[in-house]
Amino acid sequence: MSNAAPTIEQPPPRDGSPLLDVEHVRVLFPVKSGTLIDRKVGAVHAVDDVSLQLREGETLGIVGESGCGKTTLIRTIARLIDATSGAIHFRGQDITKAGRRELQPVRREVQMVFQDPQASLNPRKRVGQILTTPLRLRKIPRDRLESESRQLLTRVGLHPEHLNRYPHEFSGGQRQRIGVARALALDPRLILLDEPVSALDVSIQAQVINLLDELQDALQLSYIFVAHDLSVVRHVSDRIAVMYLGKLMEISPAEALYTKPIHPYTSALLAAIPIPDPHENRSRTRPLVSGEPPNPIHPPSGCRFHTRCPRATEVCRTVEPQLTEYSGGHLAACHHPQHVSAQEIERATRSPASPLTAGDQAPAG
Ligand SMILES: Nc1ncnc2c1ncn2[C@@H]1O[C@H](COP(=O)(O)OP(=O)(O)O)[C@@H](O)[C@H]1O
Ligand code: SF4
Ligand SMILES: [Mg+2]
Repeated sequence: MSNAAPTIEQPPPRDGSPLLDVEHVRVLFPVKSGTLIDRKVGAVHAVDDVSLQLREGETLGIVGESGCGKTTLIRTIARLIDATSGAIHFRGQDITKAGRRELQPVRREVQMVFQDPQASLNPRKRVGQILTTPLRLRKIPRDRLESESRQLLTRVGLHPEHLNRYPHEFSGGQRQRIGVARALALDPRLILLDEPVSALDVSIQAQVINLLDELQDALQLSYIFVAHDLSVVRHVSDRIAVMYLGKLMEISPAEALYTKPIHPYTSALLAAIPIPDPHENRSRTRPLVSGEPPNPIHPPSGCRFHTRCPRATEVCRTVEPQLTEYSGGHLAACHHPQHVSAQEIERATRSPASPLTAGDQAPAG
């Protein structure tokens, strides 16, 4: 007998509402000091006023250097971390502060796949056990657990006989397939993929990405696909968001981001795309941007990128740029946007996704 709590049916999304709506979400981690008494001395601005939406069936890529807040953002969406402020709606329902019971269906419909498949699978459990735990939560009858597990393995391109093996008996790519199968076992709508191929060889990366692509079509899944460089997300994403020090710098339909990057940080990420190295079957990454990212406990004033930006002027140091919408859903937060015409700047409007603390000054070009 399964001892899973009963699941509550989710209401269908409101007409026209996105699958996921993230509004001005902030996540601050307190920094404490003191040996006897914990005193809060500051906060890491891990995610700072981020707004984005995801439509049903869409893939949103999220890219940025290590430490810019990608994992914190998607863990907050999955309600594994509480937002300090802001709101998250999933299928039209406000889940920002939902309690355990209200969250039950969301916990099933929103799944995560992690970067390190080795660390995310329990080494002491056979694959069969790893898959039957979520299947039981879905109340799959006991006599169907094995056949469902076999089907899941086949679905992710593994042999159904592998049910009796332990995670260490698989290669890295196969282990990530098991991670995907475990997420699928709950029949999710949205999968949050946290650098799912970063730990894999380049040749294996493409296979796992193709698998994710096929599954999306077959099962009408929506994805948020996190990566630290722009090469990985290009072909899988409908739109791409670029993050820097907890903030959104640019968000755009995928192709436009590569052909007409508006934000200097996006240009820097594009210049740093890894070059395949024929001698090593892996890729070499060129340095991203000169200098180290600033400390997220004391982020720079004005535009957070000003300490490393080749285009920075005085206004960048003092006024936070608005997230401004240019043509066709292409948004960027920069006082001196690139690859946009004078008319596009003229017509551009401040986006509702713009940070609440951004200045009133429109971009100058
Ligand atoms: N639990 C935590 N406590 C304190 N700081 C954290 C915690 N988790 C992440 N951080 C900090 O938040 C920032 C964003 O981290 P993270 O979301 O992991 O970035 P990314 O996934 O883009 O590499 C980093 O400065 C990181 O050190
Ligand atoms: S606002 Fe200024 S510092 Fe920031 S990216 Fe644009 S030009 Fe660079
Ligand atoms: Mg991360």
